[in-house]
Amino acid sequence: MNSKKYFNEIAHQWDNMQRSFFSETVKDKAFSVAGVKKGKIAADIGAGSGFISGGLIGKGLKVIAVDQSEAMLGEMRKKFSGAEGIEYRLGEAEKLPIPDEAVDYAFANMYIHHVESPQKAIKEMVRILKPGGKVVITDMDEHQYKFLKEEQHDRWMGFKREDVRRWFEEAGLNNVIVDCIGESCCAQSSCGDEQASISMFVASGEK
Ligand SMILES: C[S@@+](CC[C@H](N)C(=O)[O-])C[C@H]1O[C@@H](n2cnc3c(N)ncnc32)[C@H](O)[C@@H]1O
Repeated sequence: MNSKKYFNEIAHQWDNMQRSFFSETVKDKAFSVAGVKKGKIAADIGAGSGFISGGLIGKGLKVIAVDQSEAMLGEMRKKFSGAEGIEYRLGEAEKLPIPDEAVDYAFANMYIHHVESPQKAIKEMVRILKPGGKVVITDMDEHQYKFLKEEQHDRWMGFKREDVRRWFEEAGLNNVIVDCIGESCCAQSSCGDEQASISMFVASGEK
């Protein structure tokens, strides 16, 4: 099964899974690092069922939510039906369905460990940013839990912070900061009794 098929299959239960993996602290930290301002436009890449998007709408931003999975976007549409200021776009990491220099912020939570090339995904996020805009990525530090690859279709077993910093700088971002969120992603293997607890980072940079 590939990643798209996996997320299409589990979309209806993603909200519950997400709540068991990490808390609201993750988005609070991402929004505070970005310094989000009402009225601005944000992209939420690998948006899933709208963990980040929902918070952004609540803060008065306009949101373009992009995901490869129709079912995930479908869950988000149901959840936010009636809400204004959100657009749903089906799209892939390597070719985001957003023009150049269109958004003030590009967020991605727990997304880059699923993509084939995190470097390319970061460059695409930079492409859609207006000059002065910010990329903010939250994800897992490097870990050893293979069951996350086997059971949840993770491609990458987290990241070294120095690699993420380098990818941000190579993508042309300035004022790059890679910091602790103060939160761990917790997951239980469905096939055994292995239990993961993985620290998370927030990476930000300015175009
Ligand atoms: C672990 S979920 C995180 C969802 C959401 N950001 C959250 O925090 O709840 C990863 C999401 O990234 C999407 N995704 C994975 N690889 C992708 C790709 N190459 N292009 C676009 N979306 C992708 C998946 O479909 C899924 O919805």
